Amino acid sequence: MADLNVNIGKLQMKNPVMTASGTFGYGEEFQDFINIERIGGIIVKGTTLHKREGNPYPRMAETPSGMLNAVGLQNKGVDYFVKSIYPRIKDVNTNMIVNVSGSAIEDYVKTAEIINELDKIPAIELNISCPNVKQGGMAFGVSAKCAYEVVKAVREAYKKTLIVKLSPNVTDITEIARAAEDAGADSVSLINTLLGMAIDAERRRPILSTITGGMSGAAVKPIALRMVWQVAKSVNIPVIGLGGIMNWKDAIEFILAGASAIQIGTANFIDPTITVKVIDGINDYLERHKYNSISDIVGALEI
Ligand SMILES: Cc1cc2nc3c(=O)[nH]c(=O)nc-3n(C[C@H](O)[C@H](O)[C@H](O)COP(=O)(O)O)c2cc1C
Repeated sequence: MADLNVNIGKLQMKNPVMTASGTFGYGEEFQDFINIERIGGIIVKGTTLHKREGNPYPRMAETPSGMLNAVGLQNKGVDYFVKSIYPRIKDVNTNMIVNVSGSAIEDYVKTAEIINELDKIPAIELNISCPNVKQGGMAFGVSAKCAYEVVKAVREAYKKTLIVKLSPNVTDITEIARAAEDAGADSVSLINTLLGMAIDAERRRPILSTITGGMSGAAVKPIALRMVWQVAKSVNIPVIGLGGIMNWKDAIEFILAGASAIQIGTANFIDPTITVKVIDGINDYLERHKYNSISDIVGALEI
């Protein structure tokens, strides 16, 4: 076995494979298919301060080599998470990481403070791709100044590992990544979904109730890979890469581009055992190329 251990801030993972928020539930849903304790980190559903109903249906659409979703961060709120979900998942022997969303800085801070008290949650992932109500609905993650402010405020309240998840719907993602680093993030993860749209020509109507939605899956991989490569060259904190990873080869490509760890999202819907296949595939690759450790290939792309 090659050494697959990865450290992200104070977070210690047995391998670089994580699951992407919103695509793996709370892990429990996958227990019948795989031993979820083999996974390096499980990022659970997006959690907000208050309960959210999500968007009206239809909120999913299939696209060539991918999908659009407009779930709208449906969840029962952080208090429900603490009372009803945390006791069920806290003893799973992997890193359970909470993805935190909000529409105002105070929401993010309060949610992070509550999660900071949970011993068995070693990290949060801050989803800054969501609307800032005070800025007229513009997402925090599309302006470096807003990204800096929200990350800085959460950094003061949250003492454990802080991962900031970046939106690809920007002109220069490196600028936002540097703002997150300057504000004290331990790591950045990218990419969240790309804004897309689907139309039903027969009905002359949009397919999604929200008209536009977030694109994910194999089709977004080249864009995600390019952004991970750009960001890894621009920051000194570890980068977590995701977007269209469907197999171990895709995962290796992200690591060569500079990602210290990777997340698997949409692929879980196609093959619920994909995470363990990717862990095994990464190990086989390292052994075949005679590398001792995963760290030997992070950013090892030759140009
Ligand atoms: C159904 C669905 C729900 C999602 N929910 C969240 C979420 O709650 N928070 C978040 O940060 N990202 C969410 N995402 C985005 C994914 O975590 C991931 O960033 C994106 O899908 C790209 O990776 P992929 O191509 O491997 O799926 C969601 C994606 C999908 C498809």
